[in-house]
Amino acid sequence: MEVIPIDLDENSYDIIIGENLINNLDDILSIKDERNFILTDRNVDMIYGDKLHNLKHFFKLTIEPGEKSKSIDVAIDVLRQMLEKGLTRKSTVIAFGGGVVGDLAGFCSSIYMRGISFIQIPTTLLAQVDSSVGGKTGVNLNDYKNIIGSFYQPKKVIIDVELLSTLPKKELMSGIGEIIKYGLIYDYEFFQYIKKEIEGIRSLNNNVMKYVVRRCCEIKARIVELDEKENGLRKILNFGHTFGHALEGGTNFTRYSHGEAVIVGMFYETILAKKMCVIQELYSNEILSFLESLGVDLSLSEYSTSVLIDFMTRDKKNKDNKISFILPINRGEVKEYLLDINEINWN
Ligand SMILES: NC(=O)c1ccc[n+]([C@@H]2O[C@H](COP(=O)([O-])OP(=O)(O)OC[C@H]3O[C@@H](n4cnc5c(N)ncnc54)[C@H](O)[C@@H]3O)[C@@H](O)[C@H]2O)c1
Ligand SMILES: [Zn+2]
Repeated sequence: MEVIPIDLDENSYDIIIGENLINNLDDILSIKDERNFILTDRNVDMIYGDKLHNLKHFFKLTIEPGEKSKSIDVAIDVLRQMLEKGLTRKSTVIAFGGGVVGDLAGFCSSIYMRGISFIQIPTTLLAQVDSSVGGKTGVNLNDYKNIIGSFYQPKKVIIDVELLSTLPKKELMSGIGEIIKYGLIYDYEFFQYIKKEIEGIRSLNNNVMKYVVRRCCEIKARIVELDEKENGLRKILNFGHTFGHALEGGTNFTRYSHGEAVIVGMFYETILAKKMCVIQELYSNEILSFLESLGVDLSLSEYSTSVLIDFMTRDKKNKDNKISFILPINRGEVKEYLLDINEINWN
C-alpha cells in the first residue's frame, strides 16, 4: 500500500494506492458514524456490489451508468435519499464508481448540510488517475458540462488497481489518454516510461499500473497543491481538452470516450503547435507518432473545422472569440496560448 499525501492546508488528505484494498474496506475506512452513504452505478454494483454488502453502517444508492446521471435532477434524488436515510453532519459519503459517480457524489456531499465528509473509491482508470484527485465536483445543465459545481476535497482517496480488470477496453483507453497527458505536460521521463510500458498498461500489469497510477496522482497532487482553484498552473491539465471537448460535443458524446477525445485533441493541438513553430520538429514527431500508434481513430474527415471551433467558443474557458489552448513547447512542458479563431489551423 502506498500513500501520497496531498497538502492543501486544512483540506489536506491522503491518496492510498494498492491492490486488493476492496476486501479490507472497513479497516481502511475506519468510520465511526452509524449512518453513511455509498453512491455507485448499476454496472459497478453488478460486478462489485457483494463486496459492499459487508460494509457496516452504509446505505447504498445505485444510479444509472453514464454521463446523463450527472444532472441536477439526479443530484436532487441523491440529496433526498441522503436526507431520508437520516445522514447527519458526521456522516460520510463514499463515491464508488467512475468519474460520473465521483463528480455527483462530491457535489452532493459539498452542499448537503453545507458540506459533509466524502471519500472517493474510483473504479475506472480515468477516475483513478484524474477525476478522483483535485476536488472538482459538479453536474451538467442543459448542454453545459460541469456548469454547476464546487471545489470540494475528499477526506481520502482509496485506489485499488485490481478493480480495473473488469473495465471495458474503451474505458481503459480513456484513462490511457489522461496518463499520456501527464507525461507530456509535466514529466518527459514518465512519457518515456509510458511509451516503453504501453503493453503492460494495456494488459493491466499490476506492478506497472501501481507505478503509473501513483505517478499520475503525484503529478496531479503537485499541480493542485500549487493552484487549487485553477487560477493559473492548473490549466496545464487541459492539454488536449480544448480540441477534445469540442470533438466530444460535436459527436454528441457517443463516438469517443473522454480520454479517446483527449488523445485526438493532443494530436491536433500538437500539430497546431508545430504550425505555430513553438515546438521542435523532432519532439512533435515523437508525440504524433506515439499517439498514432494507439489505434484511436484520428481522422477528422467528417468534422469541419468551423463546427469544432464553434463548440470551442461555447466553452466557459473561452470568450471574445479567443480560444485557450495548452500547447506542448518542450519535453515535459506546455504553455497556454490564447488564439483568435482566425489563427487556428490544424489542417
Ligand atoms: N472532477 C474532475 O476533476 C474530473 C476530471 C476528469 C473527468 N471528470 C468527469 O468524469 C466523468 C467521466 O468519468 P469516467 O470516464 O470514469 O466515466 P463513468 O463514470 O461514466 O464510467 C465509465 C463506464 O465504466 C463503467 N465502470 C466503472 N468502473 C468499472 C469497473 N471497474 N469495471 C467495469 N465497468 C466499470 C461505468 O458503469 C460506466 O459505464 C465525466 O463526467 C468527466 O466530466 C471529472
Ligand atoms: Zn480529461
